[in-house]
Amino acid sequence: MQKPTVKPACPNFSSGPCAKRPGWSVDALKGAPVGRSHRASIGVKKLAEVIDKSKAILNMPADYRLAIVPGSDTGAIEMAMWSMLGPLGVDVLGFEVFGKMWIIDVTKQLKLSDVRTFDVPFGAIPDLSKVDTDRDVVFTWNGTTSGVKIPNGDWIKDDRKGLTFCDATSAVFAMDLPWNKLDVVTWSWQKVLGGEAAHGMLALSPRAVERLNSYSPPWPMPKVFRLTKGGKLVEEPFEGKTINTPSMLAVEDCIDALNWAEGVGGLKGLIGRTNANLKAVEDWVEKTAWAEFLPETKETRSNTSICFKVVDPWLTAKDEEAQRKVIKSVESTLDKEGVAYEIANHRDSPPSFRLWGGATVETSDMKAVLEWISWGYESVKAQEQAKAA
Ligand SMILES: Cc1ncc(COP(=O)(O)O)c(C=O)c1O
Repeated sequence: MQKPTVKPACPNFSSGPCAKRPGWSVDALKGAPVGRSHRASIGVKKLAEVIDKSKAILNMPADYRLAIVPGSDTGAIEMAMWSMLGPLGVDVLGFEVFGKMWIIDVTKQLKLSDVRTFDVPFGAIPDLSKVDTDRDVVFTWNGTTSGVKIPNGDWIKDDRKGLTFCDATSAVFAMDLPWNKLDVVTWSWQKVLGGEAAHGMLALSPRAVERLNSYSPPWPMPKVFRLTKGGKLVEEPFEGKTINTPSMLAVEDCIDALNWAEGVGGLKGLIGRTNANLKAVEDWVEKTAWAEFLPETKETRSNTSICFKVVDPWLTAKDEEAQRKVIKSVESTLDKEGVAYEIANHRDSPPSFRLWGGATVETSDMKAVLEWISWGYESVKAQEQAKAA
């Protein structure tokens, strides 16, 4: 097969941290109030700007609260689980690495007794009709490591008794989220926005706030998880006064990303860019005999963490370790060419490829990299076959 001639302008296809916005340079950070207190009015203003712009772009309901919290997305979702779980039974969904971790949090760390787990293999999605939203429910909206997304919120009752805890880190800014169905929503800055890692975002519905104001968990609460004081919600983190010290460089970068997001048409523009990337991969999978999507159905196919596996009998006849080796070889071949970085799926996923399709990735780059993947796969296969002959 002929080596492609067109290289992606940006070879960054990792699923986190993800590609920076097109045209980004460190100059974007010039306005950061470095060396100043984040509690000075200039710092608080910047932090509040992140909160306000995020709310506006995401069309978050006016009565939802949004905070910047420690520990990235993990910090945000764990802080929510530790602060609010306990009074009701809990349903936890695991359909990829992170949801499966939240199952461990609920069962082995918090050791809650009334728990139902919906744990399915990579590629599948739990039977959502069996999930009971009169209980608390913990789930990821998009499985970054399986390429499977929740198709819609129809299974979540409007008049539910439980709270829905949604880890939306690779969904937000790329998919339409039904806010009225979600009580706790968390994300980080380094996925669809292409921001810097460190801080998490925590959105709370009025019912989630009500839970915080009326329930105190029986276990100890580290300072970085504390959302209440004297049994009542602390307002400060929702006003830009974070629990502990944030990086003002990361904050400035997030503001830059949000400004860019506004410039490409806000949420609609971001979703459009992301869907165009998925479409490019769909067209390529259609014409590529050895590739098939990891998600089992089209309606659960993610537009951000786009995962596909190899269905070539030459490879599938090999054991899992050998399959991973071939995928890693394709990855390193393309890395050496400078055309694609970090395109092998997560180490805990089945052997497969994963391309980030979030809005910061240009569709022209996505189209270009796919031709390189075709070439890389055929080249590695030819080399392996020659070795075996
Ligand atoms: C669905 C999901 N949840 C949680 C995380 C962890 O995110 P963070 O490193 O921001 O804590 C990731 C990271 O890729 C993720 O994809």
